[in-house]
Amino acid sequence: MAADRDNLSHARRLVTKEGESFLARPMRHGEARTVMTLFDRLGEKSRRARFNGPKPCLSRSELRRLASVDGTHRALVAYVEDDPQPVAIARLVRSGDEAEIAFAVADEYQSRGIGSALTAQLVADARATGITKINALVARDNSAAIAVLRRIATRLAARFEGSDLLIEAAIT
Ligand SMILES: CC(C)(COP(=O)(O)OP(=O)(O)OC[C@H]1O[C@@H](n2cnc3c(N)ncnc32)[C@H](O)[C@@H]1OP(=O)(O)O)[C@@H](O)C(=O)NCCC(=O)NCCS
Repeated sequence: MAADRDNLSHARRLVTKEGESFLARPMRHGEARTVMTLFDRLGEKSRRARFNGPKPCLSRSELRRLASVDGTHRALVAYVEDDPQPVAIARLVRSGDEAEIAFAVADEYQSRGIGSALTAQLVADARATGITKINALVARDNSAAIAVLRRIATRLAARFEGSDLLIEAAIT
């Protein structure tokens, strides 16, 4: 694995349902470059899906916010063999025993099971810290994201929020 060894010191090996293995490590506070690198690997459609609207670039404040890690903000970064750059990030923001989640996989690595496996791991970690419900805002036609959320939920509820769906996933 060619990615920065330091960054991978707390990495765990995850396996997709198709049997592909990849590494996931916790993001550290202030990793703006990691966030930017993954953003650069998202096409226009994926950016729109991730940010619920057009997002040609990230402002400095958005970058700072997305690279923020503390007691309530957590993220996992994924790497695959022979690619030194991050291929996916799943991120959650905790509020009490709930958390808002968002995730993205680089365009060239989508539909290989990485989004499902990475999000499932982040949710398992969240559950272990007492989080019982995951919320996510997704476009109503984003069937891949909805499928990812369906997989992590014990019960799923959804309601319209403008042109998007607010999905509430119980995880206990
Ligand atoms: C949503 C996203 C993270 C899913 O990650 P992924 O690695 O591509 O998805 P997976 O390969 O794990 O597949 C997840 C499910 O979506 C389905 N899926 C994958 N790609 C799909 C596509 N293009 N269209 C429809 N369904 C698709 C898979 O069949 C799977 O369903 P299953 O669990 O019923 O088998 C990824 O597509 C992405 O980054 N999209 C842009 C950002 C985004 O939409 N984020 C979500 C809002 S925060």
